[in-house]
Amino acid sequence: MDGTRVKPAGLYKGGFFRYFIFTMKKIALTGIKPTGMLHIGNYFGAIKPALELTREYDARYFIADYHALNTVKNPAELSAHIRQVAAGWLAAGLDPEKVIFYRQSSVPETFELTTILMAFTAKGLMNRAHAYKAAVQENTEKGDDPDAGINMGLFTYPVLMAADILLFDSDVVPVGKDQAQHVEMAQDIARAINFNYKAEVLRVPEVSVRENVAVVPGSDGRKMSKSYGNVIPLFAPEKELRKIIMRIVTNSQGVEEPKDPESSQIYQLYKLFSTPEELEALANRYRSGGMGWGEAKEALFQAANRELTPLRQRFEEIMADPAGLDTILARGAEKARPIAARTVARLRKAAGID
Ligand code: TRP
Repeated sequence: MDGTRVKPAGLYKGGFFRYFIFTMKKIALTGIKPTGMLHIGNYFGAIKPALELTREYDARYFIADYHALNTVKNPAELSAHIRQVAAGWLAAGLDPEKVIFYRQSSVPETFELTTILMAFTAKGLMNRAHAYKAAVQENTEKGDDPDAGINMGLFTYPVLMAADILLFDSDVVPVGKDQAQHVEMAQDIARAINFNYKAEVLRVPEVSVRENVAVVPGSDGRKMSKSYGNVIPLFAPEKELRKIIMRIVTNSQGVEEPKDPESSQIYQLYKLFSTPEELEALANRYRSGGMGWGEAKEALFQAANRELTPLRQRFEEIMADPAGLDTILARGAEKARPIAARTVARLRKAAGID
């Protein structure tokens, strides 16, 4: 090697190299179905981990409003959920300058791609989707027609989701366990297309299942879930937050009795909001006896309120400026659409529909 021909350092910092690094970042994409108010299970289980990923990946996060339409048929309710969930992610720290943040419904290329993907999706593949199978099973157990209450949106749900993913050349799709099968179906569909056209027309994404995130217990000790009615809303006003925490179910141990921290959902929730020192201190209070459940709940309320107050304030500010929120989402769609259009154009060309 000729040591004298080292490039001046300035070149490395130049525009081209920076651009090169920028485009080398992998793409993470995920959809958020706006079917209800965000709760702290969503926050610790999905929102926080997804926001952490944005440091390493080029992230594309969107509100899957047409997925929600399959179940939410009341327009006022759906429109409120869309706005609340979008505002919630922003309040939690999503930076719309860094992340392409948009509504699925604002990217109509999604639906053109869905039509193309349909032609490569075996009906049998859809028959095997967990969500559809569960709905059929429930009907059968009740003695109803197997397809009772099942619309085509639910049946073809994985195709729309595959379109969301494949449209953006996603490298990784971070999801909860329940959605892993859907991402695998997107892989299958992409492979079928690439096989047919003998080219890598679509990027086959990896699924990244959130394994080591906290399982957040609800107020009754079961996993926090809207369907159990045991959630702590992320943006509950202070008074309501206190009320919900004070209603957490406990056992009948008296004040003086020593208590086991790990088996208490108050303690499990406290873990999410406290510093290691605070956690240690509360564990000691549990073990040494002399602490009633009311006191543990008060400690939890204080810690939760401390972390959630700034989030709640930002949420309220964003919700108070609907035009500002619309602008953010519209800008996101503006960034998303050219990428989406390129994918659709590539596919149409491959298919002979150009
Ligand atoms: N189906 C996902 C859920 O219910 C939401 C979703 C829609 C999604 N499209 C997606 C997730 C694409 C990841 C990628 O949570």
